Formats: sequence, C-alpha cells, structure tokens
Amino acid sequence: MSIRGGFTVTFVVSLAAITIATMHVASLSGQERQTSVEKLLNDSDCRSCHAIDRKVVGPSYSEIASRYATDANADQKLVRSIRAGASGNWGNFRMTPHPALKDEQLAEIVAWILSLKDAAPAAPQEAKAKQYTYTVNDGKKVVLDFPLFLEGSDKKVTKDVFRGYELYNSYCYRCHGQDASQSELAPDLRHFVEAGTANQEFLSVVMAGREDKGMPSWAGFFSEEEVQKIYRYVKGRSLELIPAGRPPSEYD
Ligand code: HEC
Ligand code: HEC
Repeated sequence: MSIRGGFTVTFVVSLAAITIATMHVASLSGQERQTSVEKLLNDSDCRSCHAIDRKVVGPSYSEIASRYATDANADQKLVRSIRAGASGNWGNFRMTPHPALKDEQLAEIVAWILSLKDAAPAAPQEAKAKQYTYTVNDGKKVVLDFPLFLEGSDKKVTKDVFRGYELYNSYCYRCHGQDASQSELAPDLRHFVEAGTANQEFLSVVMAGREDKGMPSWAGFFSEEEVQKIYRYVKGRSLELIPAGRPPSEYD
C-alpha cells in the first residue's frame, strides 16, 4: 500500500540497527538486556497491541507468561506464534505475522516475556472514569466516558477529537468516506460504532485489520492512543454531534 510505503522503509532500517545492537547482547547486564528488549518491542509493532499488565488487542505479557509457566516447549511455541501470527488461543482477534524478526531477536523477546511469570498481578483498575452526558438530535441523552467538546462549549471539539478528525481524513477516508460518511468501498464506520461497538473492539479491528477483505492492519503505524482519537471522532459523527467538515476547535 502506497500510504504505508514510507513506514515500511523506516521499519526495515530500524530493524537492521537493532540487529547490530543485539550482537552484543551476550555481554549485557540484566538491566541492559531489559533495555534492549524494550527497544525491540518498541521498534516493532508489538506495543500497538500488547502491554505488560493489561489486555490491549492481545493478552498482557504477564498473562502469557503465567499461562506458559509450566510448559517446557513454551519458548518454541511462542517464537512460532509471533513469527507466523496466531489466532484462537486467546480470543477472536488475530496476531499479525512478523517474518522480519530474526531468530535471536525472537528468542530474546520470548525469554523476556516468559520471565514475567512472577510479575505482580495487573494494577487495580483506575478510579471510575468521568462521564459526559450529551443530548442528541431526537432529544435522547447519551453518556460517554470521554468528552467530545471543550469545557463550557457545545461546538468546539477537544484536541483529541480534532486529532481524530485529522487522522481519519488522512488515512481512513479513502475507503470509508470523507468525514466518516457513505462510501462504496468500505463500511460506513458510523454504523459500526452506533451499534454500540466499544472502543476495545474498534481498536482490535483497526490494529489487526482484515487483510483478506481489504482492511489493512494499522499496528506499528498507529499507537493505541491515536486509534482512540479516531474512535472518538467517529463516535461524535455517528451521534450527529460533530458536523461534517473541519469541526470547530480551540484552533478557531
Ligand atoms: C495486531 C495486533 C498484534 C500485534 C501487532 C502483535 N500481537 Fe501478539 N498477539 C495479538 C493477539 C490478538 C494475540 C492472541 C492470539 C490468539 O488468540 O491466538 C497475541 C498473542 C501473542 C502471544 C501469545 C501467543 C500464543 O501462542 O499464546 C505472544 C507471545 C505475543 N502475542 C507477542 C507479540 C510480540 C512480541 C509482538 C511484536 C513483535 C506482537 N505480539 C505483536 C495481537 C498482536
Ligand atoms: C484500503 C481501504 C481501507 C482503508 C484505508 C481503511 N479501511 Fe477500514 N475497512 C476496509 C474494508 C474493505 C472493510 C470491511 C472488511 C470486512 O468486510 O470485514 C473495513 C472495515 C473496517 C472496520 C470494521 C467495520 C465493520 O462494519 O465491520 C473498522 C472499524 C475500520 N475498517 C476502521 C478503519 C480505520 C479507523 C481506518 C483508518 C485508520 C481504516 N479502517 C482504513 C477498508 C479500509
């Protein structure tokens, strides 16, 4: 895909840099080794879909470590899953394949993941998120766990929503239609979020993609936060609270 061409090039270049870095790995201390794995995970697309202590699109690394703690072949299995991609072991979403990672890199990543088996259990949930109530066209009230508008305004969208608008109209509009509206090429995303689809599922579809059906995977290209901003924009559009075109914001 042409849009992602530039990304692929930088990705390959950075992988080459990491390969050189990992040649020194045998002589690294524990702390240095951790930093080297972190760099590998950050430079690959893992962080779009995984975190240490909470589920994102895929399971948390510490949950993976505890599931495989007593499995003698865990390292081989996990190396295979990451390289070839996987689905069905943890849920319905698919992990994309990673053919570019080298054997040593995969071994290093998997050893680190498995070492998390004694990690502290997931951090307690944050205090209940603040709620925001909006009145939609038919007079009904909807409650969201994020704001669409700046405080004291019912027109100027938040920075996050504005960024979502920009990202949507840079990367998604080609197939899903300008301003999240009708399109012949791909489903109208307003319907997807209208049907009550939660942020989590939106994130999973966007990161994993459905390559066989023409929906690209955006893992490694977008962070979790960026996809959340797109979701917020599309949600506002589906509720008809945000107009088509460039929405008013603090930049106006
Ligand atoms: C597009 C999102 C996505 C990306 C990118 C991704 N993963 Fe995953 N990962 C998943 C999902 C979803 C699962 C669960 C798959 C299943 O149910 O079999 C998973 C499962 C795993 C597992 C457990 C596999 C098993 O057989 O139980 C490991 C280990 C893992 N991922 C590591 C990684 C690493 C390391 C990277 C980066 C090189 C990465 N993942 C990138 C989504 C992703
Ligand atoms: C190259 C065309 C293309 C681009 C670009 C694209 N998509 Fe898609 N997308 C599709 C197609 C085609 C489908 C329908 C796949 C199917 O039939 O399951 C889809 C499906 C989806 C779905 C599931 C919708 C549903 O009703 O099941 C979501 C969510 C989604 N895309 C979000 C996005 C976002 C967000 C972006 C921008 C970051 C984006 N897409 C960019 C082609 C695209």
